[in-house]
Amino acid sequence: MLGLKLLTDPRWANIAESNLEEILTDHAWCEQKAATNAITIIAYNSEHEDLVTALTDIAIEEMEHFKMVHEIIKQRGYTLGRERKDDYVNQLFKFMKKDGSRNDAFIDRLLFAAMIEARSCERFRVLSDNIKDEELAVFYRDLMISEAGHYTTFLKFAKKYTEKVDVDQRWKEWLDFEGQLIQNYGKQETVHG
Ligand SMILES: [Fe+2]
Ligand SMILES: [Fe+2]
Repeated sequence: MLGLKLLTDPRWANIAESNLEEILTDHAWCEQKAATNAITIIAYNSEHEDLVTALTDIAIEEMEHFKMVHEIIKQRGYTLGRERKDDYVNQLFKFMKKDGSRNDAFIDRLLFAAMIEARSCERFRVLSDNIKDEELAVFYRDLMISEAGHYTTFLKFAKKYTEKVDVDQRWKEWLDFEGQLIQNYGKQETVHG
């Protein structure tokens, strides 16, 4: 799925379902971070009109997702907890190239975003396929489709705007790194936990 090297053990969905308040809180903040990331990319690369247009749509969509998750939290009488640290994303952030040319950093930032979208999409599929809660199963199926679209958009712009980076090769490196990294996760009730 999406080139991912390692698929999530479906038992992770049972862990997630055992603490819905926690996974929903973590999920809400994932959406906020995705919106923030899209806005940051816009701010640093404003000369690309089509990218600004597409990423504005993504930022809005991510905040719509945040709102949807928050509505579910409220309906169920849960409380939106404080923002959770996302160790998985922090490790990916460390892998992202920040040196080199401005274009090198830009392309790797797009691949960083695509990587998170790809894994989030896969995690939503696992939740949707395995969770017993029917409302959430449908909810996560819809989100899975949306995040797959985001993944495609980030990769498309990386290929369009690269100057020297071989995007196919670099994307392979991302997939290999992520395939190793994700082996440490799958045990917690967070989207990337
Ligand atoms: Fe989202
Ligand atoms: Fe997304």
